[in-house]
Amino acid sequence: TTRTFSSSARMAAAIKNVTVIGSGLMGAGIAQVAAQTGHTVTMVDIDKAAVDKAEKRIAASIQRVAKKKFSGDEGEATKFISEAIGRLNTSTDAVASVGSADLVVEAIVENIGVKQKLFKELDQAAPEHTIFASNTSSLPIGKIAEVTDRKDRFGGLHFFNPVPVMKLLEVVRIPETSQDTYEAMCVWGKNMGKVTVECKDTPGFIVNRLLVPYMFESVRMLERGDASARDIDVAMKLGAGYPMGPFELMDYVGLDTGKFIIDGWAKEYPENPLYQPSELLNKMVAEGKLGVKSGEGFYTYKK
Ligand code: NAI
Repeated sequence: TTRTFSSSARMAAAIKNVTVIGSGLMGAGIAQVAAQTGHTVTMVDIDKAAVDKAEKRIAASIQRVAKKKFSGDEGEATKFISEAIGRLNTSTDAVASVGSADLVVEAIVENIGVKQKLFKELDQAAPEHTIFASNTSSLPIGKIAEVTDRKDRFGGLHFFNPVPVMKLLEVVRIPETSQDTYEAMCVWGKNMGKVTVECKDTPGFIVNRLLVPYMFESVRMLERGDASARDIDVAMKLGAGYPMGPFELMDYVGLDTGKFIIDGWAKEYPENPLYQPSELLNKMVAEGKLGVKSGEGFYTYKK
């Protein structure tokens, strides 16, 4: 069969070298999937210990992926693993790691100043054609892009945790994002095995914009004594068909993460009642009840 390549397909075909900055929960997942899908990857973190930890986590996760993908065929599985690992390089120097990048995906700490400082430096160091993207959950992409001279080659690539498992990728455009950049990000997302959806640079994009206010409305129901956490969870699972109830979901995501997002939005958009913080949640976070990761949130967990 013959295929015609549009300019965007040509551009997307050019996304071969990917630099992922931040090797925490999300960065490690993004780097892993990129390596598994044939990209040459450099995974960067300022913290060497974080890089080492990510490498271990990736090795274990790739094992699971290979086992599922090539059930029974150990030879193929071993080949898949060694090829993916072979495409994954690591570094603690971001500026030195973007020289041959076609795409930079940033997944560092959720702090606007730190992200801006990083992108400002990378903008000087990266080639002209390199596309920059942030995986931020709650910060405006436009505000991060503002410090660069490549707003037309800037967008949001918002993955979901755990990255190797979750199929969705939100592709976020700022007004300046060029059509070529947008299409290249979409094609890359599909090459990563994800389903892409397009969204404007609006707080929380699609998923968190709906999910975060829903979670806080659930806490407000609990605060008013309308229903128990357990009953609200059962109701939403059996009545709305959700796979997890809102309290199970908050425990999984981390109460501190929920608080962090709502506090940022409340400050930025004080007039929006959907973005109001919750006293109960603030108290739980202050007490160290963060959910699954701390052993206790709305439920208790065995450590
Ligand atoms: P994390 O805390 O697990 O990892 C962040 C990593 O960035 C750390 O290893 C830290 O050492 C590193 N880092 C910090 N400053 C750096 C710098 N200047 N240069 C290089 N590395 C630096 O955080 P996580 O959860 O992976 O989140 C990362 C980003 O992804 C955030 O923007 C967050 O909003 C977003 N996100 C998080 C999701 C989640 O479920 N945790 C889901 C989707 C997006």
